[in-house]
Amino acid sequence: MEVIIQPNKEAAASLVARIVARELRAHPSLVLGLATGATMEQVYRHLVRLHAEEKLDFSLCRTFNLDEYVGLFPNDPNSYRHYMDRHLFRHVNIDGRNTHLPNGLAADLDAECLRYEAAIQRAGGIDLQLLGIGKAGHIGFNEPLSALRSRTRVKALTPTTIKQNAPGFGGEDKMPRRAITMGVGTIIEARRCLLLATGDSKADVIAQAVEGPITSMVTASALQLHPRCTVVVDEEAGSKLREKEYYRWIFENEPEWESYR
Ligand code: GLP
Repeated sequence: MEVIIQPNKEAAASLVARIVARELRAHPSLVLGLATGATMEQVYRHLVRLHAEEKLDFSLCRTFNLDEYVGLFPNDPNSYRHYMDRHLFRHVNIDGRNTHLPNGLAADLDAECLRYEAAIQRAGGIDLQLLGIGKAGHIGFNEPLSALRSRTRVKALTPTTIKQNAPGFGGEDKMPRRAITMGVGTIIEARRCLLLATGDSKADVIAQAVEGPITSMVTASALQLHPRCTVVVDEEAGSKLREKEYYRWIFENEPEWESYR
């Protein structure tokens, strides 16, 4: 795992977008894993700008989202399909047929999960997986006690997650209780993982995920097993990390980061 600390959330989101853009320019038919949530909105804003101003080309790019709520129609403003259309797909030259999210309305949800895994395999696996982190330490919707080898499946949401995401639904009682999510095992098979966390509400969970033990109680900690995982945080989200000075040194001195400084 490599941790990069940026001065603020704007710089952190910009860095993540620039990493995505570089991968996409190098591999135009990149298989890109996408995440949702407020944190990612900034990243998509940058990608849309790079498309408009620097002709970043999504025409061959294929995408797979981490998760989708069970029971929401794609045009429901709270569905992740709607989120992706609103924040990214509608504003760039991506082919809609190349964008994939689990179908939370499938009659047979277990079959839908298998279909989604197979679709990822058929695309050749995920090249770069974007990740946020929930306050419960989850990646995707892999809530505490999700098996670290889990695959795409239906997961019941924890009270912490329901509380975190309820405002958009206008209250906890209006929120779906279940979601389809890639498993932890699915996620860590991506060739590269890139997690973004900003704000002091993520400081505790980032410290646990990065410097704590690998545990299914904090599924983001499974990323410690990944051979190529970059965690980008702002000062606030990184404030409880013990090895901050070391992480800063890496960004300031390692050749890999030279062109991003
Ligand atoms: C949801 C998503 C996660 C995301 C999390 C963080 O729970 N399923 O993939 O990481 O939100 O959201 P935010 O960026 O709004 O804190």
